[in-house]
Amino acid sequence: MSEKKVIISIGGSVLVPGIDDASYIRRLAGLLRELSESAPLIVVCGGGRVSRYYSETGKALGGSEFQLDELGIGVTRLNAALLSIALGDGAAGVPATPAEAVAESQRRRIVVMGGTEPGHTTDAVAAMVAREAGARLIVNATSVDSVYSADPRADPGARRLPRLTIDELGALVYSEHGAGRSGVFDPLGVRIAKDCGIDIAIVDGRDDSEIRGAVLGTGIRGTYVDSRAAAPDRTT
Ligand code: UTP
Repeated sequence: MSEKKVIISIGGSVLVPGIDDASYIRRLAGLLRELSESAPLIVVCGGGRVSRYYSETGKALGGSEFQLDELGIGVTRLNAALLSIALGDGAAGVPATPAEAVAESQRRRIVVMGGTEPGHTTDAVAAMVAREAGARLIVNATSVDSVYSADPRADPGARRLPRLTIDELGALVYSEHGAGRSGVFDPLGVRIAKDCGIDIAIVDGRDDSEIRGAVLGTGIRGTYVDSRAAAPDRTT
């Protein structure tokens, strides 16, 4: 029986915040090598502040949405190339599609990629890769330690949400999206995860024990999104 792959979506703000990035990426590469002994990994890198810089500058120059997305994709692929160098396989090239990434994962325990095409973010790419690979889990390594009931910086009453159903996550990202930003997870990614029964562990990407706990299934402090659980009955 083939081993279940785990897909890791790592935010650009986690990977390259602009402070001592090489140290973090080197440490992450070591952690990924360790975890890849337990499960084959496909890692999708986000763009972070560099992609925002390109997007804003491109917009000021009159770029179309499509062109701005292309700029963002370019940065995510550069970030993927950085992580590949740290893993010692910088010459391998960055897969351009989910199918390419899954094919490559037959040959290597860790495959690293960035964005693919305009119209979504790398969280959605992670969900497409998970669908293609038949994976059951996406680990979303992000810059927050958990999903909260409200913005914890603005609302002292905000509660940490340890578990969510996929529909509850959907409700959260759609309301956020309506307000102009998809902060927690790309709505398209949520839809794919729901359709394909893919769980999402949302963890602090700077905390090695959180990424480890999510990949190995030994427990996390972040939020576990169960794609198969029915929404809790809130009528009682
Ligand atoms: P990110 O995935 O980093 O987007 O891709 P983001 O919204 O900044 O990420 P998080 O989840 O908040 O960390 C950067 C940009 O690249 C383009 C989009 O414009 C995205 O905002 N992109 C990325 C695509 O158009 N397609 C892709 O497949 C990936």
